[in-house]
Amino acid sequence: MLFFHTTFLLLAGLLGTSVSAAPTNNTYLSIAHKVANSMNDHYLDRTSGVYENQWWNSANDLTALADLAIIDPSFEATAQPIIHTAFEQAPLSQGIATFENAWYDDEGWWALLWISMYDLTKDAIYLNEAESLFKDMAASWPTPCGGGIWWDRAQTYIASIANELFLSVAAHLANRTPNRDDKASYTNWAMKEVDWFDHANLINEFGDVIDGIDLNGCTRNHTDVFTYNQGVILGGLVELSKATGDASLLPKAQAIADAAIRNLTNTDGILLEKGTKDQGAAFAQFKGIFIRNLQQLHSVAPKPSYANFIRHNADSIINNAMNHEDYLIAPNWQGPFRDPNMGAQGAGLDALVSAASLSNKRDEVPVDTNSAGRVNQNPLARIRDLT
Ligand SMILES: *[C@@H]1O[C@H](CO)[C@@H](O)[C@H](O)[C@H]1NC(C)=O
Ligand SMILES: *[C@@H]1O[C@H](CO)[C@@H](O)[C@H](O)[C@H]1NC(C)=O
Ligand SMILES: *[C@@H]1O[C@H](CO)[C@@H](O)[C@H](O)[C@H]1NC(C)=O
Repeated sequence: MLFFHTTFLLLAGLLGTSVSAAPTNNTYLSIAHKVANSMNDHYLDRTSGVYENQWWNSANDLTALADLAIIDPSFEATAQPIIHTAFEQAPLSQGIATFENAWYDDEGWWALLWISMYDLTKDAIYLNEAESLFKDMAASWPTPCGGGIWWDRAQTYIASIANELFLSVAAHLANRTPNRDDKASYTNWAMKEVDWFDHANLINEFGDVIDGIDLNGCTRNHTDVFTYNQGVILGGLVELSKATGDASLLPKAQAIADAAIRNLTNTDGILLEKGTKDQGAAFAQFKGIFIRNLQQLHSVAPKPSYANFIRHNADSIINNAMNHEDYLIAPNWQGPFRDPNMGAQGAGLDALVSAASLSNKRDEVPVDTNSAGRVNQNPLARIRDLT
């Protein structure tokens, strides 16, 4: 704690700001460092780069580390070797030869990590790995439902998440590949996925993204609504709008983001995972994925409500869901601090990194103080607390 206060006062002093009740960007950044270090101290296997033996969740925790290093170069020397160890050792630790496994969504999470690692290092080995994972995902197109990719190699389910990841990886690659033909091909895949997603009717009239479709009749079936399904598509549409110059993709993303902020929050504007009571690492990860992608949307199509939402949720994590002795984070962002795990830790880190990066953006919009967090005024949209 002493170190934290000293650092904070020093930064505040250097910037000539005064210490206020609401955390500043430097506060978020300083806490993000502590949360990241705590994540590595408590959950990371340093020989494999995997957290608590969790596969796709580890890709997300590592992405949060990469994102922190991208906004703060002083963290690069910590993040890079850990992520590179995962690059070399993670599959072997699971008894598989490569990052290709039986689930296409898992491949998508790892591909997005290698893209973040490429952004951080500009080393083509990571971009190549993302491209080869994308190729494997693309080989699963089409399903019998008019397009789309399968959730799994065994072809048991068509999930929104695998398709959102396919869109996001394609669009990210389109903006990074040095080859013009490859750019056209990735862009084309991303546009095909967006069309298919509409055609498959995976978004309902309230803007909720449905979890997946039933093979019998290709209709909506698994009606659960999860925060990560509301999130990954945002980053995909942002990257596709950059690749094509098609700005009409951004209001489409905003409608999906607004639906989550309206519908998947408690009355205090804190993000909730309504589709499950499970507070384990897997589901705890989802909310961070939403916030990380919301921040990407905000960086190109800013709205005061997005900046407020990100800060308000980060503040709630700090005040209600974080243990201030060892910086562990609980799954429920509204608190209390209980049952921390590696997924909740990575999700909390996503929120803190997103809050810390807001104020660094030149396109930052003024904070609308009356509505800070109070985004859920519709009584119909109020939801039962999960606990
Ligand atoms: C999905 O469809 C299957 C097969 O038609 C059915 O057995 C199952 O109950 C459905 N699940 C949901 C959540 O609707
Ligand atoms: C904090 O925000 C200020 C003002 O937007 C910006 O100049 C500064 O770079 C930010 N600092 C950090 C460490 O985020
Ligand atoms: C979203 O809001 C609408 C309208 O209030 C409601 O009918 C729907 O069930 C909500 N969805 C979720 C996932 O809560």
